[in-house]
Amino acid sequence: MVLKFFVGGNWKMNGDKKSLGDLITTLNTASLNDETEVVCGAPTVYLDFARSNLDARMGVAAQNCYKVAKGAFTGEISPVMIKDCGVEWVILGHSERRHVFGESDELIGQKVAHALESGLGVIACIGEKLEEREAGTTEEVVYAQTQAIADNVKDWSKVVLAYEPVWAIGTGKTASPEQAQEVHEKLREWMRVNVSEAVADSVRIIYGGSVTGANCKELGSQNDVDGFLVGGASLKPEFVDIINARA
Ligand code: PGA
Repeated sequence: MVLKFFVGGNWKMNGDKKSLGDLITTLNTASLNDETEVVCGAPTVYLDFARSNLDARMGVAAQNCYKVAKGAFTGEISPVMIKDCGVEWVILGHSERRHVFGESDELIGQKVAHALESGLGVIACIGEKLEEREAGTTEEVVYAQTQAIADNVKDWSKVVLAYEPVWAIGTGKTASPEQAQEVHEKLREWMRVNVSEAVADSVRIIYGGSVTGANCKELGSQNDVDGFLVGGASLKPEFVDIINARA
């Protein structure tokens, strides 16, 4: 079954009102495949700006949020605040949150639960490090990360699972289409056994890690690759080509 293609941009901690405004104008005026769901992950301080300026046919995502609605948590933001800016999505469990900021599977699970309960869609990220791949533990690692997420999901219709091998993020070393397909297929089978047939058949599993305009078509033509999460290239006009990868 072909699922609606999902392309997320993750701007990370990049850009300013001028450069992001220019990027938004490029996206607003581009010819985009209607069959692709597009979501742009903006830095927290620009969520309102992004949502106010980006055409309504594209979604906006926060890049993180906390696990409760409000309180004495200096520096954090909550799903209700994200929703108050008109923003519909949040990226959780990104490898930079896991490995630069030390977020655990447990915390990510709690964040996923709270974001979904609050009505946000969640782009939930998983992925193995280079040493884990080399040690042959890729499956074990991504299954454990997915389990910690799955334990906290009641409604999978609001979840997109992003497989992002850490060694491919920001390195220019993209997983080959075969490597991506292999893990995506295994993750779908894991979902079939550990969640349900219906979820395995309907959840979008997107790939992230050095996706570019040049490699997106081949990656996107793999059976179990239902879209992308794009970092560096999402800040460039070539993001349009990635959105249109299946056109
Ligand atoms: P990249 O980042 O496309 O720059 O490798 C992907 C991501 O971190 O989501």
